[in-house]
Amino acid sequence: MRRPLVAGNWKMNGTRKSVVELIDGIKGGLGHHPAVEVLVCPPALFIDSVASQLKGSEIRLGAQNVCQSTAPGAFTGELSASMLQEFDCCYVIVGHSERRHIYGESDKLIAERLAAAVAGEVTPVLCIGELLETRENGTTEQAIAQQLDAVLKLENGVELLRQSVLAYEPVWAIGTGKTASPEQAQEVHAFIRAYLAKYDETLANGVRILYGGSVNATNAADLFSMPDIDGGLIGGASLKVNDFVAICKAAG
Ligand code: 13P
Repeated sequence: MRRPLVAGNWKMNGTRKSVVELIDGIKGGLGHHPAVEVLVCPPALFIDSVASQLKGSEIRLGAQNVCQSTAPGAFTGELSASMLQEFDCCYVIVGHSERRHIYGESDKLIAERLAAAVAGEVTPVLCIGELLETRENGTTEQAIAQQLDAVLKLENGVELLRQSVLAYEPVWAIGTGKTASPEQAQEVHAFIRAYLAKYDETLANGVRILYGGSVNATNAADLFSMPDIDGGLIGGASLKVNDFVAICKAAG
């Protein structure tokens, strides 16, 4: 049984005040929620204060990126997995499409970041997904396979993915209000599982695959009802207490 996970990716949003209100609201709105794992990924500056606010809560804390180096040193602007660990982050997003497309992070770098997260005992949430032009020219599956291959071709690729969560985020659905239909999303999730099964059946059946891209309180339940969708990675709607709480409840 794969336990559903709903993760809020706050991206570059929030103030000291709004972050406190958001966490208070989510804690109050969710209460005890054993059926679904809930994760928030604030901007790095807020991680410490959110960690304090989440003490004693079931809500998990994550970061939005991690350095590919496990050793400390000359990596200006980066955070290591051991730093994230020390500040109570048990998850970290890697390979978000904004990192890939705005900051030019390559498949290779992203695979290295993922490996560093696992080495530091922080669970990576590996984002994969196709651009609109890729979908339109019918090469979505090749694009997804290429993103997975970057990790699978590492020596211990299967083991690394076994300790990861995947998030399918079609780039054309991110922040656009244009969600993939449950059927469109399911088709890609099923492809991902089938692709992984060629390497390792247990990995394919066990790995959680989240859907992300314009998930909201209205469309969440239909997406989460699909057999290969194990929860969501939520952007805009994760900044609104009522919407995020409703999405979490739709998964559990
Ligand atoms: P939106 O939910 O705002 O479309 O963002 C999705 C996303 O990128 C989550 O990582």
